[in-house]
Amino acid sequence: MDSSKKDLGAVLTPSGTSDFIVSKLGKIKSNQKVLDPCVGPGAFVKSLLKAGIKKTQISAYDVNLAYKTDIEELGVSFKAVDTLISFDSDCYDEFDFIVGNPPYLNKASSYVRENRVKLKKIYGKTNAHETYSMFIVNSIWRLKEGGKLGFITSDTFLTLSTHKKLREFILNNCIINEILLAPTNLFDKQKVSTYPAIIILTKCSGDSNRQVRNNNLMSIISRIKNEDEYWKPQVVNEIKQRRYKSLPFSIFFFDVEDQIIDLFENAPKLDNFIKGYIGMHTHDNKKYIAAIESTELADIFRKKNNTKIKQNENFKIVLRSDLKTEKWKPYLKRGGGDQYYRPIMEALEWNEKAISVYDIPSTAPFEKEGVVISGISSKLAARYMPKGCYWDSNKAIGFIAKDKSISIEYFLGLLNSSLYNYLSKGIINNTNSIQISGIHSLPFIKPNKKTQEDIEVLVKQIIENKKKSLGYDYTREQKSIDDIIFNFYAVRFNFSSKLKKKLEENYSIYK
Ligand SMILES: C[S@@+](CC[C@H](N)C(=O)[O-])C[C@H]1O[C@@H](n2cnc3c(N)ncnc32)[C@H](O)[C@@H]1O
Repeated sequence: MDSSKKDLGAVLTPSGTSDFIVSKLGKIKSNQKVLDPCVGPGAFVKSLLKAGIKKTQISAYDVNLAYKTDIEELGVSFKAVDTLISFDSDCYDEFDFIVGNPPYLNKASSYVRENRVKLKKIYGKTNAHETYSMFIVNSIWRLKEGGKLGFITSDTFLTLSTHKKLREFILNNCIINEILLAPTNLFDKQKVSTYPAIIILTKCSGDSNRQVRNNNLMSIISRIKNEDEYWKPQVVNEIKQRRYKSLPFSIFFFDVEDQIIDLFENAPKLDNFIKGYIGMHTHDNKKYIAAIESTELADIFRKKNNTKIKQNENFKIVLRSDLKTEKWKPYLKRGGGDQYYRPIMEALEWNEKAISVYDIPSTAPFEKEGVVISGISSKLAARYMPKGCYWDSNKAIGFIAKDKSISIEYFLGLLNSSLYNYLSKGIINNTNSIQISGIHSLPFIKPNKKTQEDIEVLVKQIIENKKKSLGYDYTREQKSIDDIIFNFYAVRFNFSSKLKKKLEENYSIYK
């Protein structure tokens, strides 16, 4: 494939997949119109013709004129057009069916960068950044009421919090007939690695259709392994569409237990009890951040200084006693999976000149005692944050308790428990980065005195032992913490033993 085609996100759909998507459209009458808005060499056109649709019923658009011959050879008319930008008021409600494999071009692509202003004007409201999400919105607009859409796209829009508005747009305008996670090796031959999803929607918009949409029963099919499985998937979940409004960010989930959805729907949100704040920027970490003596980082800095290449390069190391002089502040800028306690390794230079360079958000209550959560980690990791700390805007997020009747130790035990690891990493965000808004949207039930005290004892024990020896194995205490937290929530939300097993096997530190 030549590079200009790659730049426009050209990836070709295997015929087994386009045939399947076309089969999902149901009966197409001879007076109905079908569009492929990004047709390429015509995988979907071929499937439509195979299914007996007349050539004259099919419209094919692509921004790349190079596909004109391919499509016209199939006897179908081709329009060289930028489907996203050429959209105007005449384009609404035009087609009965829309099928395709929209290009996946993200914010950094030259196409999106060059057309940013125009795209933002049309798709800004749905916060659609990648072309495939704009194609979904664009195609829903182009569909007639009752018309059907079948796309294969990246699956990221199903769960990422950044796609919340797109999901809400779909929920407010469509019946979701089916979502299926397609085989991950579908595009291997083209050296494209993706996690594709097939989505089949029926346009059903307007307030008067809200009940119909809410009561619709969707077919939700977990990742299948090969194209043959399209026709006989092993697990099909049927979920009422209204359930897709239950989780934070309207996540389109696959196999979340009813009890967990009840928990999210009924419990107050964590941000009523503890609140996270974006940290600060030094604009030059190397200049303003030093390592604290006798930490791992100080060793690294010492080695770098000994082998330095540039003459004027100097990695600073400060004494612990310097932190008491007000010239240096303890600084948190590390992610990672360490839980409960980790010695602070960095110090932030603190004098008028340096401070004038820093961006320090005025709303963040720095220097208070609290909890620091890793912004980048494969599991939820919360650690004790002593008084006096500042934190970076990137990999560490400072959280300060709002409800003082709940201790920092309880928050640490709760956030490091297998249940909360599941809620935050298994459900809300399945990537390595953790957002403040994700943590805030977790459910929280105030503990009774006994639960709080039991957790506090265990957490204090872990912290004390980790202070003595960082590699302290806290599996035993963690098991007890996981049990106490699970049981406390289980009685209120009827958690099952199956859920317990899932947490132990997939979300605990002891697996
Ligand atoms: C992922 S390929 C799919 C090709 C074909 N439909 C298939 O499934 O085999 C995406 C196609 O979208 C086209 N494309 C990219 N941006 C476009 C735009 N803004 N308007 C119309 N077509 C576009 C590309 O030229 C490319 O052919």
